[in-house]
Amino acid sequence: MHQKLDVLEDKGFVVLRPYDGPEISPSEWQNLEYMDWKSGGDTNFAPIASALGDLECAGFWDHGKPDKGGVWTTNAEECPTLVEWTKRVGADYGRVRIIKLNPSTSEADAVRNLHLDDNNRLNPDGEGWVVRVWLQLTDNPDSYMMLRDVKDDPSTESRISLGRYSQFVIDSERLYHAAYHPGPEPRYALIVSFESGPALERWIESQRAIIPTTHAETELHI
Ligand SMILES: [Fe+2]
Repeated sequence: MHQKLDVLEDKGFVVLRPYDGPEISPSEWQNLEYMDWKSGGDTNFAPIASALGDLECAGFWDHGKPDKGGVWTTNAEECPTLVEWTKRVGADYGRVRIIKLNPSTSEADAVRNLHLDDNNRLNPDGEGWVVRVWLQLTDNPDSYMMLRDVKDDPSTESRISLGRYSQFVIDSERLYHAAYHPGPEPRYALIVSFESGPALERWIESQRAIIPTTHAETELHI
């Protein structure tokens, strides 16, 4: 058994208020080195922290580690605001990466791309369950993260709109997920694996403290 957060117990995800820190320059995602790595569509990933600090997308388990104790790669030098964002959460982080998602052609493609993440391989019993936090970088309000409890059951679906700077936490080993992104430009987002525990809980609470009026629109249930 692992330590889990009460805030995720009910639905397995929580939408936070949008990021309101310093402006994030597009150079922080455009100047990074991307690897060809397919996950949930036509994707490329820029590793900012990896198991050993190498520019690679492999699971930490390939190096005998759970998805924690991430080591900064050379990409980290190009994205100081994103590194600072990660550190300020205060929780142990593993994979820190930017996803570049090329447009989907249909919602059916997003459904086909629904998958569970492998976040807790080698994570010792009794330690914090690893979940993921997304920080949306490009402004794609017509795109959304599709979440389902049951992969083939649309009645279990929730959607999170992907407007610029939207932030959300997903237990992505529990919920099937994939982004529907009609384009036309690629979508970029930061995705970080964090260990559940008091630090992550405090940060989530701090990001929910002021709920803007748009909050209800960013979390769409169908
Ligand atoms: Fe995933």
